Amino acid sequence: MAGDSTWWRRGAIYQIYPRSFADADGDGVGDLRGIVEHLDHLNDGTERSLGVEAIWLSPFYPSPMADFGYDVADYCDVDPAFGTLADFERLVEEAHRRGIKVVVDLVPNHTSDQHPWFRDSRAGRGSPRRDWYVWRDGRDGGRPPNDWASTFRAVGPAWTYDPASEQWYLHSFLPQQPDLNWDEPAVEEAIHDVMRFWLERGVDGFRIDVVQKLAKDPLLRDVVEGAPVPYEDWQPAIHERLRRLRAVVDEYPDRMLVGEVYLLDLERIVAYVNSGDELHLAHNFTFVHLPWRMEAFRAAIDGFEALASAAAWPAWFVANHDNPRVASRFDDDDQGPARARAVLLMLYALRGTPFVYQGEELGLPDAAIPPDRVVDVDGRDPERAPIPWRPPSEAGPGAGFTTGDPWLPLAAEAEELAAQRQSGDPRSTLALTRRLAWLRRGEPALQSGAQRSLDAGADLLAWVRTGDDGTALLAIVNFAARSRPFAGAPDLPPTAVLALSTDPDRAPGTLALETVTLGPGEALLLRL
Ligand code: NOJ
Repeated sequence: MAGDSTWWRRGAIYQIYPRSFADADGDGVGDLRGIVEHLDHLNDGTERSLGVEAIWLSPFYPSPMADFGYDVADYCDVDPAFGTLADFERLVEEAHRRGIKVVVDLVPNHTSDQHPWFRDSRAGRGSPRRDWYVWRDGRDGGRPPNDWASTFRAVGPAWTYDPASEQWYLHSFLPQQPDLNWDEPAVEEAIHDVMRFWLERGVDGFRIDVVQKLAKDPLLRDVVEGAPVPYEDWQPAIHERLRRLRAVVDEYPDRMLVGEVYLLDLERIVAYVNSGDELHLAHNFTFVHLPWRMEAFRAAIDGFEALASAAAWPAWFVANHDNPRVASRFDDDDQGPARARAVLLMLYALRGTPFVYQGEELGLPDAAIPPDRVVDVDGRDPERAPIPWRPPSEAGPGAGFTTGDPWLPLAAEAEELAAQRQSGDPRSTLALTRRLAWLRRGEPALQSGAQRSLDAGADLLAWVRTGDDGTALLAIVNFAARSRPFAGAPDLPPTAVLALSTDPDRAPGTLALETVTLGPGEALLLRL
C-alpha cells in the first residue's frame, strides 16, 4: 500500500545470531548482554549507526544445542549460555529506548527431544501427551512409516524408532528435534500461549521457523512426483493455522509475523501474505537460490510483484545463518566484495523490507572452518563465524567478539573488516550501509513508493521508485564483472543527481543518463 509506512515496512530488520554476535562474559559464545552492549551500532538515532528498525533474534531459549538453539527444550526461558530472562527484559527495554523493535524466533514445528512435552510423549503409548508428536507403527521389514527424508541430508530418514514403545517418531530435521503434531488442537493452543508469553514481555513480532511445515498430510503418504508435497504446505490446513497465529498477535497492537516460508515457488509464497490475515511478511527464498544473473533477479522481483495482492509486501534477503554469505557465494571473478555492496543497495532500494544478516553490513565473507572445528551437521558453520568488532592486532584473536576462545573461528579478513576499523572509513561497506539505511529513512519513495522495472541494457537490473509526492529515484545494479552502459528509458529525464554509488571513487553530481556507464559490479541510486 503506497504511503503506508509501518515499522516492519519502513526500514531494515537486522538478524542477530546470538551465539556469534557479541560475548559479554568471555566464554566464547555470544550472549544477550553482548547484544545490549552493541545496540548503538544498530541504531543510536544518528547516521553513525545502521538505523535499523528492528532486530530479529535467532533462538536463545534453553536448548541442548544439537541444532544450536533450533532444538528448544523450554519455549519460555533463556538458555544460561545466553543469559537470563532478566537480561532479555533489559534487552527489550534498551532496544525500545533506541526505537528498535524486537522480533524473536518461534520454532513451532518441533521441540528438542529434551522438552518435557516430548519426554511425556515418549513415556509410552498411553501417555496423555502421546499425540502431541507424530508416532506411527513401522512398515514391514522394520522400515519407517513412510519415505520422508530429513531436511538435513546427513540424517537420512525423517523417522527414528523408539524400542520401548515399538513405534517411530517423525523429525523433519535431527532425531533430537521431534516434530510436534499440529493436527492435535492442544499443541496449537500451547504454541499460542508461548507467543502470548513473549508478547506480554514486549516483543514486537515473531519469525516463524519452517512455517510451511505446520500442516502436513494427515495420512502421511509417501512422496509422489506431481502430487502435492506431503510433508509441508498442506491445504487448506496451513492457511487456517496461519490465520489463528495471526489472531494471536492481533490481540496486541502493532505486532508482526514474518515466516520462514521455505518454498521456492513464488505463487505458494505469495499465498502466505496475499489475504492480509495470515503472515505480514514471508521470507522469499527464491533470492537465496539464484545465480548472480540479472535476468534471474529480475524474474524473482517482477514475479513477486505480478502475483502480489494490494496487502502483500515483499521481504528481501540474500543471506542468513543457513546460507553462504554474499561476499563468498558470488565471488567468481573476484567480484565478491563489490557484489556484497551491490546486494545491500538492492535490499534497501527495492520495494519491500530489507532483512540484513549480521556481518552483511561489513561485507563479511564466510570463515574457513578446519575439519576439527566443524560443529554443524549441515555445513553451516562458515556463515555463523563470530563478528569481528575490533582488529585482532588490537583486541587479540577474539577480535572484540570475545576475550575467550571463540566457539567458531573468525573469518580470515577480521583485521581489515572489523567494525571499528570500517566505522571511521567513509569508503567502507559499513559506511555504505549506514548511508543506504539513512537515505531510505529520509525518503518515503524508498520506503513505500511504487516500483517499476526498466529494460536497462545487458546485465543491468534497474528500477524506479516513485513516492506519493512525485519524488522518484532510479536504482541500477551492474551484474557484470565488466563496465556496462545504461541503455536508459524513453520516459526518464535526461539527467539525474547521484544519491549514492557503491563505488567510493564515483564523483558526486549530476549525470547525463544517456552516457552513464556502471563499473564492474557497481550499483547506483540516482534522484530523477
Ligand atoms: C530453519 C532454521 O533457520 C535452521 O537454522 C534450522 O536448522 C531449521 N529451521 C530447523 O529448525
